[in-house]
Amino acid sequence: MTFEMCVPCLFGLEGLAADELRRLDMKDVRAENGRVLFTGGIEDLVKANINLRTGERVLVVVGRTPAKTFDMLFEGVRNMPWEKYIPIDGAFPVKGHSLNSALFSIPDCQKIVKKAIVERLKPKYRTEWLKESGAKYQVQFAIMHDEATLYLDSSGAGLHKRGYRPVGNAAPLRETLAAAMVKLARYRGRELVCDPFCGSGTIPIEAALAAINRAPGLNRGYDSQRWLWVPKQVWLDARDEAIDKEYKGTYEIWGGDIDPQCIEISKINAKRAGVDKIIKFEVAEAADFCRETPGGIIISNPPYGERVMERSEAEEIYRKFGRAVKKLDNWKMYLLSSHTEFERTFGKNAVKKRKLYNGMIKCDLFMYY
Ligand SMILES: C[S@@+](CC[C@H](N)C(=O)[O-])C[C@H]1O[C@@H](n2cnc3c(N)ncnc32)[C@H](O)[C@@H]1O
Repeated sequence: MTFEMCVPCLFGLEGLAADELRRLDMKDVRAENGRVLFTGGIEDLVKANINLRTGERVLVVVGRTPAKTFDMLFEGVRNMPWEKYIPIDGAFPVKGHSLNSALFSIPDCQKIVKKAIVERLKPKYRTEWLKESGAKYQVQFAIMHDEATLYLDSSGAGLHKRGYRPVGNAAPLRETLAAAMVKLARYRGRELVCDPFCGSGTIPIEAALAAINRAPGLNRGYDSQRWLWVPKQVWLDARDEAIDKEYKGTYEIWGGDIDPQCIEISKINAKRAGVDKIIKFEVAEAADFCRETPGGIIISNPPYGERVMERSEAEEIYRKFGRAVKKLDNWKMYLLSSHTEFERTFGKNAVKKRKLYNGMIKCDLFMYY
């Protein structure tokens, strides 16, 4: 069984997610705006879910249809081979979105899609009533420029939910974005990595997972674990394969934060992620950051002055931190901020900037190397 799959991702991360999929040996990998498409089989679906660091979820493409009217949407969806995927007792809630299209009422589209799938499955299973008492096969639709794409969501909770961060601080960074920052910093487990504004520890934890090559999705469940056509053994094999690829080495990763509560949370999260032995967390003022050793990487997401504090307070933090890191010898820095005056107040123009989105907040990753 081969099918097309789609990995939605945060804007700006498409290239990185595509790169990850190619490294996982996926076929026909194509990056588009906000998503990456590829083709593969059941093993690939499972492998992508367990191993992807920067993708948000893995969707199975069930079909595409023109959808200028409700009739077109209904007919198109009814013609798709839903019985290949949803068994007689499968529960199939429907959600979705529409953009730049004639059909814009989401509740109405939801009803039409649901009805069309019901009408497809009823004769196939020779029943008048689908109980939907079994495993969840979440249906998603995306209508864009009057074309609807129908998906099944194999992940369930978003892939950024690794299972190590049930409690966050005031402004936690999405795990997928933290993993992307680690990738953009080209960290390979060799240098000292520091995050002087570590909050709940997301960046040090993602750096540690990358360093030991641990699949980020080993400690969580997926909706498709309960799918009838995804054998349990495939999950077991994919987990074993991922564990076999882990490295055992010595790594130097440090996280600091001025807030003792953040450090406590970071320690708990790191323990949950199984990387507490390779990260050192300390209560520390970023303005006092100093290291004697030449070379290292700072990957961090200091306060923006948008969610955590006021802008001027954030500027003062950048100013003091900028002064502290001036003394470092041969270090690289990757600093994420949405603050428009970041470079000026930090005191140095970045070599390169990359636009990234932390949820709805447009940020720049300021790169110094
Ligand atoms: C945007 S949050 C970082 C979020 C973090 N990346 C996470 O995933 O949870 C910024 C953090 O900087 C910390 N902070 C603020 N001022 C600081 C200072 N002067 N020195 C060190 N940490 C500071 C805050 O306590 C907060 O946890």
